[in-house]
Amino acid sequence: MLTPDQREQLIKTCALFYEGEVSVSDTLAWFMLAVPDLDRRMFLSTQIFEEVKHAEFFERYFQEVCGKVDTSAYLVPEYRGVLLDELRQRGETIGRALTTGQNGDLSLALVMFTAHYMGIVEGVMAVTGYDFFDDLLAKTGMFPQLHEGIRMIRSDEGRHLTHGMDYLRELLEQHPEHVAPVRELFISEGMKIPARTDFIFTPNPLGLDRDRIQAISYAHHEQRMREAGLS
Ligand SMILES: [Fe+2]
Ligand SMILES: [Fe+2]
Repeated sequence: MLTPDQREQLIKTCALFYEGEVSVSDTLAWFMLAVPDLDRRMFLSTQIFEEVKHAEFFERYFQEVCGKVDTSAYLVPEYRGVLLDELRQRGETIGRALTTGQNGDLSLALVMFTAHYMGIVEGVMAVTGYDFFDDLLAKTGMFPQLHEGIRMIRSDEGRHLTHGMDYLRELLEQHPEHVAPVRELFISEGMKIPARTDFIFTPNPLGLDRDRIQAISYAHHEQRMREAGLS
């Protein structure tokens, strides 16, 4: 059995995943509407379906395993901005560009959404979180069902990420004028990695390896910048 403190650390991580999955499934429709390429649009329609399934998985997990949890209580500023508020603004910016017909603004809005959603949220934060769950299972031998669910989500996310980074690179090749704001976004989000790691590991009653997880996060960050053609 977990102690109450250990349970709290686990629920904190699951709550952020749940809030993140709800937010990404809410915003992705704007993006899909704005992407002109039909193959990409078909792919994105399956991605929306998968993101909603991921949110459903965490919702059911809370209901059946953890009972009633106020997941929004874990949305500290280090996570709320990137996962909810700023992502929603990026979706709404696409929506405005679409509805006002100002296509000049649309290419920048698409690039920034791709960098934020696929590059940072999926490409740095989520993929780091999966290793947290791997470490948890290795350490405690507990939660095999949670781990199995995460394993399936992870394989969906691998496809989302591959498509997203491919699209980001393509967009930046077409619009080199957008390289600077994307680089700025990556750099400012990279600087938040220690604070985000601290939130999960302070306190750390599960006794997982904070520095290992932070190093994984930096490695993903570097790899995403390379894939986008930024380094
Ligand atoms: Fe997801
Ligand atoms: Fe995803």
